[in-house]
Amino acid sequence: MDGNGRWAKRRGLPRTAGHTAGEEALAAVVRAAAQRNIGWLTVFGFSTENWVRPRAEVRHILGLHRKLFGRIDEMNDNNARINWIGRPFDEHGARTPVYVQRAIRKAISDTEHNTGLVVTVAFDYGSRAELVRAASACVAGADDIDTTCIDQHLYAPQLPPVDVLVRTSGETRISNFLLWQINGASVYFTEKTWPDFDAVELDRALSLVASK
Ligand code: IPE
Ligand code: MG
Repeated sequence: MDGNGRWAKRRGLPRTAGHTAGEEALAAVVRAAAQRNIGWLTVFGFSTENWVRPRAEVRHILGLHRKLFGRIDEMNDNNARINWIGRPFDEHGARTPVYVQRAIRKAISDTEHNTGLVVTVAFDYGSRAELVRAASACVAGADDIDTTCIDQHLYAPQLPPVDVLVRTSGETRISNFLLWQINGASVYFTEKTWPDFDAVELDRALSLVASK
């Protein structure tokens, strides 16, 4: 969900205001995705590399994740399940604060009965670390390192291959996001910064899948 900072800067607002607007944009996109009977929506909320940002900005983003994972009534209204991918909380170097861990666990358990859209939030996530961990697990299990074994040891093995990858705010490079899972995906590039990404944009992205 890139471009929150630029969205704010263009309006003469602090970066934190951009993150706040971005979290609200996500809530609206979840609603739109649920209405369109989409099965899976996965968003990059916070990467393992984002911890180096200024402390106050990180604190603000963490608070927004608590807010996001706290939108349980809304998720239930949307018949949507919340899921999370990222570095396991007990892994060496992991630094997700306990209050965010709690919000994530509660959101998962309070929405697990829903049968529609699965909203997966990547938090403290990095795709290369995910793949290194999967390969290590295959070795430790004396398994072959093949695609089946890697598939089985991803953070969320149930996540299907990505149909369409969205890249916001005019970026045309790939980031450290779902590198394994995007094999074969269409890519939707848009100039819109994330807070301006809306249902119209979602439909444009989806049209790439429909025309496959
Ligand atoms: C995305 O917006 C939010 C996070 C990475 C947490 P940015 O903060 O990267 O916004 P830009 O790229 O500076 O515009
Ligand atoms: Mg950015």
